[in-house]
Amino acid sequence: MIADLGRRTETGAFTRTRRTRRTAALRGLVRETRLDPASFIYPLFVTHGSDVRQPISSMPGQYRLSLDQLGAEARELRSLGVRAVLLFGIPSSKDPEGTEGYSPDGIVQQAVRVLKDADPDLAVICDICLCEYTDHGHCGLLSPTGEVLNDDSLPLLAQMAVTCAEAGADMVAPSDMMDGRIGAIREALDERGLTETALMAYSAKYASAFYGPFREAADSAPQFGDRLGYQMDPPNAREALREVEADEAEQADIVMVKPALAYLDIIRQVRDRTDLPVAAYNVSGEYSMLKAAIANGWLDEERVILETLTSIRRAGADILITYHAKEAARWLASND
Ligand code: PBG
Repeated sequence: MIADLGRRTETGAFTRTRRTRRTAALRGLVRETRLDPASFIYPLFVTHGSDVRQPISSMPGQYRLSLDQLGAEARELRSLGVRAVLLFGIPSSKDPEGTEGYSPDGIVQQAVRVLKDADPDLAVICDICLCEYTDHGHCGLLSPTGEVLNDDSLPLLAQMAVTCAEAGADMVAPSDMMDGRIGAIREALDERGLTETALMAYSAKYASAFYGPFREAADSAPQFGDRLGYQMDPPNAREALREVEADEAEQADIVMVKPALAYLDIIRQVRDRTDLPVAAYNVSGEYSMLKAAIANGWLDEERVILETLTSIRRAGADILITYHAKEAARWLASND
């Protein structure tokens, strides 16, 4: 009998793990992982125009917002206890160099000012990448033969970081995956006296199919080829640790793993290797996948979303970047 092979004590008692599962109060006492809206970052898509609240069809419940909508958004986030946003911009026009991305009056730089005006206590983070602003949709400058140029792209990314920081951003988050960008951006910020602007590095960002809906939202799909030449290859784990090590050496303040769900093992390994805060990006495809199943009545919305976010925390993420931030905060408040 299995029970005789070590599960019984000398007096014959079983190991009874069910004792602490019996009631909600007991489960609450022994719970190892908790969700807290204070650790959520809510991504926002900002666009030109006025009175724009344009639904993103592949991401039900998410919108492209014009600047005049941001004050209300900031108030809602505050009431829910979500204290940080990550901004993505949709420019009025695109060109090969992604000019609007680093213009002091670009849409994201304007959005920073509006949000900081509405709520100075809100942590405003800018995604730093050229793909939303280039007409070819790649994350950096291209060579005449269509290769993404690493070193030539760095000054533009640094310029984007500086203009966002000067507009009042608390943090910049480079997502382009050029080598050396964290160091280049830190140096450019420091040279301008922006020594307090924090850097959240998309350190282990994989070339993932889960970004599909985001590319519709941000209109940032590459016009040719793919991002495999600069984003990470999904089969690699040790390489993620090298990325983290490099970003740490270049003075990243927070490191990130992205996407989250197919990469929970990477989150855990990064958590075990660094003392920096670890963020995980629960990306668009992960959001849309659940929303589609929920819309079909196949999954229970609140339970499946909270379970998913909990799994990312349990894997080791301190910070969750998620489109579910608002609804999850609402459920967490009503469950108290
Ligand atoms: C920009 C960027 C992307 C995402 C965040 N920043 C898209 C990409 O790399 O193609 C994806 C976010 C998501 O899917 O939710 N480089």
